[in-house]
Amino acid sequence: MNNLTNLVTYFETAFREEIKTIGQTVPQKLYEPVAYSLMIGGKRLRPALMLHAASMFTIPVDHVLSAAMAIEIFHNFTLLHDDIMDKADVRRGLPTVHKKYSDNVAILSGDAMCILAFKYFAKGNDARLHELLPLFTTTALEVCEGQQFDMDFETRDNVTVEEYLEMIRLKTAVLIAASLKIGALLANATQADADFLYEYGINIGLAFQLQDDLLDVYGDPDVFGKKKGGDICANKKTYLLLKALEESDPLTLQELDHWLSKSDFDAEQKITAVTAIYDKTGVREATRNLMRNYHNKALIALEKVALSANQKNTLVAFAGEVMERIK
Ligand code: IPE
Ligand code: IPE
Ligand code: MG
Ligand code: MG
Ligand code: MG
Repeated sequence: MNNLTNLVTYFETAFREEIKTIGQTVPQKLYEPVAYSLMIGGKRLRPALMLHAASMFTIPVDHVLSAAMAIEIFHNFTLLHDDIMDKADVRRGLPTVHKKYSDNVAILSGDAMCILAFKYFAKGNDARLHELLPLFTTTALEVCEGQQFDMDFETRDNVTVEEYLEMIRLKTAVLIAASLKIGALLANATQADADFLYEYGINIGLAFQLQDDLLDVYGDPDVFGKKKGGDICANKKTYLLLKALEESDPLTLQELDHWLSKSDFDAEQKITAVTAIYDKTGVREATRNLMRNYHNKALIALEKVALSANQKNTLVAFAGEVMERIK
């Protein structure tokens, strides 16, 4: 058990009390799905990273608890809407909100969560929260921008690796990076240290999303908690697909193009066929290599933070865990 695990437990206990209150608010049809989505688990990585960043700069973690809740609520809001957009029926091993209730419920409960996120952010009594609001709002908008690029790319056939990387930086990495940076700044870290932590977070966030894309194809759905092959069915321009397009011989490319252009298909058949092409073109190893590259960059950024090696151990370990995560 490392420090971060303890912080997840600490956060979870406090968060559950808040969720209970939220879930009992009327109208129930608005708030019950909010509580459902917040209650059904999730790794709580972003709040734990924020609490940890604060503690690295020796401030009591309860000082940033409300901001950490804000980040987690915001993250879950993006998931509610993401699951509508991605037509995903399962998350964390349970029905997604739009599946369990309806699209309309998921849209409005998501809206409420987005607003709740800012309510919790503003709740803390630290004067610096006011200064940090632009960082939170910019980050939140960047996530939306990334999500739009993600959708745009589904129907584009000339997406470059560079565009893909910018898309995942926006949709995933910035929120992880901002969690660390906000935690550090609330604990009066220097701007330079906060920026190095942000850089660590961006690189770890990129590795995190690359692993997410891998798990979507190769993960164990029972552990990962999401249906296998969702990205393949939606023609998501993941690094795996971009590399496969690059590495395929002419015949394989023809087969891949066939699956990408087919609008009416059997999901299982498409997933099996595209996965076989991924296996053949070795894109799994290519993805792992790119992840290693970001893992290294993250550690280099972390080294620059002006704290002792001991104080940075937890984030070194976390970087390693992101590389090996199975859920
Ligand atoms: C899922 O994030 C969305 C991505 C950015 C890949 P997490 O994998 O952190 O989801 P939970 O909150 O732990 O379920
Ligand atoms: C990340 O992308 C989603 C958000 C940033 C909201 P995905 O669409 O791959 O996330 P999952 O796999 O559904 O969790
Ligand atoms: Mg998505
Ligand atoms: Mg999704
Ligand atoms: Mg995914």
